Amino acid sequence: MGDRSRASGAATGDTGAAPLRATGGAILLDGKALAAKVRAGVALRAARFTTRAGRPPGLAVVRVGEDPASAVYVRNKLKASREAGIASFAHDLPASVSEAQLLALIGELNRDARVDGILVQLPVPAGVDANRVMDAVDPAKDVDGFHPANTGLLAQKRPRLRPCTPYGVIRLAQEYGIALPGMRATVVGASNIVGRPMALELLLARATVTVCHTGTRDLKSEVERAELVVAAVGKAGFIPGDWIRPGAAVFDVGINRTPSGKLVGDVDFEPAARRAGWITPVPGGIGPMTIAMLLTNTVEAAEAKHAPRADLPP
Ligand code: GUN
Repeated sequence: MGDRSRASGAATGDTGAAPLRATGGAILLDGKALAAKVRAGVALRAARFTTRAGRPPGLAVVRVGEDPASAVYVRNKLKASREAGIASFAHDLPASVSEAQLLALIGELNRDARVDGILVQLPVPAGVDANRVMDAVDPAKDVDGFHPANTGLLAQKRPRLRPCTPYGVIRLAQEYGIALPGMRATVVGASNIVGRPMALELLLARATVTVCHTGTRDLKSEVERAELVVAAVGKAGFIPGDWIRPGAAVFDVGINRTPSGKLVGDVDFEPAARRAGWITPVPGGIGPMTIAMLLTNTVEAAEAKHAPRADLPP
């Protein structure tokens, strides 16, 4: 298990070209290339929806306050939506907005027939309860997959709208032929946005899953025995390269800026890439996949209005 033979037959963005490799040999999991392919598929579906429904799929993106990283993420999400033929509705609210005002806006978006997907960029400012915000979004429009109803459906093996980053990790693993069933997978980080839903996604894919968090006693040994590692901590270089098991698949969700301004992940990339079988770069790995899966969810939410699934709540 965890040897590089798993790479045989791995897709490489359908170009037929040999996969890119990092110095040291690990196959680079090219999230940027796969995201472009996923987005092209979404654009086709959005065009078909527009013809059928007489309007494009719609995504509302709500940003509260002036968090500079959130401003960049939201700008990228809006641009990608436009490029895929999805109508976007941007709502930028001041940090001083009350929770009641924010909940009222979410109520309006829930009722707006032009809006198929609603995303409230996190974090929200202190004074606004993020749980109340997530609970207020109509689960059928919850393109972040953060509503407890959607988390519950994922936990029950009948996913509807799936959290974008974990969904992107799974899609990228599948693209490269990484065989998840039976794999020993370790998720580092247990947040509601990434770590927890990532564990549920890996379980759905039939991996054997360990979740590490601040209460974990021996993180090093948990990572060392993992055939697949997802790092979602938010600390530059948190996982040393020499913890990576030879041949392992490494998915780095972290996006951290060093004092010199460079973007780096949670895994110390160079030494990890000398040991890993596959590794995501930062940037260009999971970040673009998160946006691609958001667009996928939006078009799916739009299509589901016309063809609701019989196995799901209305
Ligand atoms: N903040 C960091 N990641 C995310 C995400 O995937 N969705 C939202 N809404 N906020 C985030």
